[in-house]
Amino acid sequence: MPARETWATRLGFILAAVGSAVGLGNIWRFPFLTGEAGGAAFLVVYLLFVGVIGLPVLLVEFVIGRRSERNPVNAFERLGKPGWTFAGAIGALAGFIILSYYSVVGGWVLQYVIDSFTGAYFADPEGHFAATATGTNAVLFHALFMGLVAGIVALGIRNGLERAAKLMVPSVIVLLVILAGYGATLSDASEAYAYYLAPDFGEISANLFSIIPDAAGQAFFTLSLGMGVMITYASYLGEDRNLLTDGLTVVVIDTAIAFLAGLVVFPFLFAQNVDPGEGGAGTVFIGLADAFAGIPAGSLVGAVFYIMLAIAALTSAFSILEVIVSFLIDNFGVDRKTGTIAIAAVLFVLGIPTALDLTYLDAYDLLANNILLILGGLLLSLFVGWVYADGALDELNRGRGSDGAFAAFWIWTVRLVVPIVLVVTLALGVSGYIEFLNEAFF
Ligand code: PFF
Repeated sequence: MPARETWATRLGFILAAVGSAVGLGNIWRFPFLTGEAGGAAFLVVYLLFVGVIGLPVLLVEFVIGRRSERNPVNAFERLGKPGWTFAGAIGALAGFIILSYYSVVGGWVLQYVIDSFTGAYFADPEGHFAATATGTNAVLFHALFMGLVAGIVALGIRNGLERAAKLMVPSVIVLLVILAGYGATLSDASEAYAYYLAPDFGEISANLFSIIPDAAGQAFFTLSLGMGVMITYASYLGEDRNLLTDGLTVVVIDTAIAFLAGLVVFPFLFAQNVDPGEGGAGTVFIGLADAFAGIPAGSLVGAVFYIMLAIAALTSAFSILEVIVSFLIDNFGVDRKTGTIAIAAVLFVLGIPTALDLTYLDAYDLLANNILLILGGLLLSLFVGWVYADGALDELNRGRGSDGAFAAFWIWTVRLVVPIVLVVTLALGVSGYIEFLNEAFF
């Protein structure tokens, strides 16, 4: 078997991890969840969860990955605990489900890039979204998006993922900053900032039970946690780096980008008097398309926005595909190109229902995000906290500048705080899902 691949540089690893984290979750999901939950109130709870569970679980995945040098399914066996393999398998299953519809949404974004140039959505944003989201065109662009993702993964860690991330992540940041600067010049920008940034604490306490699972789920989703992406990426770390520093860097950049996305999206929506809480999952496509129709140079601004979104979505999507491909390579010695094409084809087929009927998209999204990712993260945390704590602490403390006091704090957070928050979130996620299934299908 050929030697296992590794990242060429530390920066490459960090940018790839940031690229995985920064995606539709930051720019599509975060603003609409914030809008639905009433603005700044959601932001506060979300930021809390990023610190309290996001960073600790990211480190859980980094530790398992670097220590085992394996994909999430084989990692446990390698660490001498084969009984836990199912925990990694749940993650891989979540990956299958997530990527199959993530690619469909990615396909919408590609359509909107073209439609910005032609102005196709200007006249009737709502009707245009309905026509974009499902049907033959949605299936075709889903195929195109999946093809792009597979093309990058097939090139391997250094030539594919690392190169792409080095180019694409900085582009996303530059484009977002330009768009936020433009947003600041729009009428009603200050109202938009007030909505986004001034929390109403009454609102937080009134809606706590819906805000908590959404905010915790989003903290997880945005950091790509629970399904082993970060295990896989850390498994390609050849040398000893300080995992805490790398983890903190990823969390801070991801959070800053989500925050920046809010500074872009809300001024656009307010400029056109679009209610940010109205559109749900369609906000980025209907509300913003409406906004682009009304603002100066809207066609160009829209194109820049959707190009930026497409790049962000690609870097996340290829991280998910990499988990499954690395499983094939580690286990069966499958050639990377063949494995990538085979998996991409399976994922394409799995995603087709969500490209034909949005109810399936919701069904996939809720199952994967509110249940499987949370369950995956819970199991990984219980494993590290209670089964493998000594090895995990040893691994976290390896590398320059590590801090024993932080490690002790971390392991107790992983043992107690994270499981409590995740069990509550999971229970709410399961009951919400049952309710959803009853309403949607029965
Ligand atoms: N973090 C990505 C985003 O915010 O769009 C989504 C994601 C990628 C979730 C990879 C889970 C994952 F494993």
